Amino acid sequence: MATRILAVDDDPVNLKLVQATLKQAGYDVFTASNGPEALNRADEVLPELIVSDVEMPGMNGYELTRQLRQKTSTAQLPIMILTSHDTVQEKIKGFEAGADDYMTKPFEPTELQARIRVLLRRVTALPGESQKIKGKTIAVFSLRGGIGTSTIAANLATGLAQMWGGGVGLIDLVLTSGQSALMLNLPLRKTWGDLSRAPVGEMDAALIEQVFLPHASGAFVLASPNRPEQAELITGEKVSHVLTVLKERYHYLVLDLPHDFSATTLAGLDNADEILLVLAPEVASLHAATCALDVFDTLKYPRNIIRLVLNWTFERRGLARKEIEDALQRMIDVVIPFAPDAFVHAINRGAPPILETQPTALGALFEDLAYFLSKPDHQKQPPAKPSALYQRTAARVAQRQAKK
Ligand SMILES: Nc1ncnc2c1ncn2[C@@H]1O[C@H](COP(=O)(O)OP(=O)(O)OP(=O)(O)O)[C@@H](O)[C@H]1O
Ligand SMILES: [Mg+2]
Repeated sequence: MATRILAVDDDPVNLKLVQATLKQAGYDVFTASNGPEALNRADEVLPELIVSDVEMPGMNGYELTRQLRQKTSTAQLPIMILTSHDTVQEKIKGFEAGADDYMTKPFEPTELQARIRVLLRRVTALPGESQKIKGKTIAVFSLRGGIGTSTIAANLATGLAQMWGGGVGLIDLVLTSGQSALMLNLPLRKTWGDLSRAPVGEMDAALIEQVFLPHASGAFVLASPNRPEQAELITGEKVSHVLTVLKERYHYLVLDLPHDFSATTLAGLDNADEILLVLAPEVASLHAATCALDVFDTLKYPRNIIRLVLNWTFERRGLARKEIEDALQRMIDVVIPFAPDAFVHAINRGAPPILETQPTALGALFEDLAYFLSKPDHQKQPPAKPSALYQRTAARVAQRQAKK
């Protein structure tokens, strides 16, 4: 049976447009042309998601959202606000009323479809208590700042989500002004800050997931707090607990770590199954990587969980790969070329290179990295509905294997 969606709009043309877009994606669409009618329709048709306009005579979309949140039958329903207002204040109003996502009109039909898919996945794809997942945690780390840690984490998380159909959390552990959500163009309506006051004992999956921000790739982001005083309340113990809880519910957790060995960073590293140590081909970065590897040795992290990623954040005259490998006495696993246009473009659009509509060489590199870091049981079997990203990555992997 198709998923039921209730679309609410007082403008018949808009309503038709939303209806057609959602029908095209295979949903069963019901409509209402004002707030009170929507509340009645919701009781009748028990929708699994509601898309609502804001400006409507009588009861506006925010009020409707508030009322839906107060009714037990619709309290948990994903609600998408669709409106011609595109100011930040308006968006905040929508989120404060309890909306889960916000899109401005005129909308791109494919974007609306993608966002709806993500919102629905959030409620349906997560396993219940009985079906625990053995998730893999990948930490992205460097003691030196500004050399692409967050960029790599965001690309990896969105790539894994596209590759395996969701089930990925990008956890920003840069607790003072982390950029993960910003990089993916997600409004900071919920963050770690909203969890910061909760005692560890009360942090269950439902509470944690309430503050997740869904991204169109299918990944979720646990964003850095808005205010430094909230960051101070987040302890290593809390981080460890959150990661342990999420690991049973998500296939992958990607950690964007700060450039220090604070208690919360260590909690992230301790929980990691694999650590990507990022370095740029310059002396200061090499020094930072040496220090980090020393600390990893002291902490007795197995050497085989550490991968070296050489990121060319500048154009030329960097240290040679061989020189770096000799100094560290370790092999570099991945080299990311200098690609200013791709990254600046991505930052401005809030979309990582891996999700470019036209596949690029850089995108392919991140896709391969995501595949390389995927769980063995994933690599063994294609996903039920292989995405375009999965298909082209698998084709490259097969080609390389054939050459060997
Ligand atoms: N290979 C690359 N080529 C060109 N620019 C890059 C490359 N990798 C990263 N950058 C750019 O370098 C800057 C820093 O990247 P990013 O924010 O990911 O690093 P970071 O280590 O997380 O920084 P911070 O210390 O702020 O946490 C960004 O503007 C990013 O777009
Ligand atoms: Mg960063």
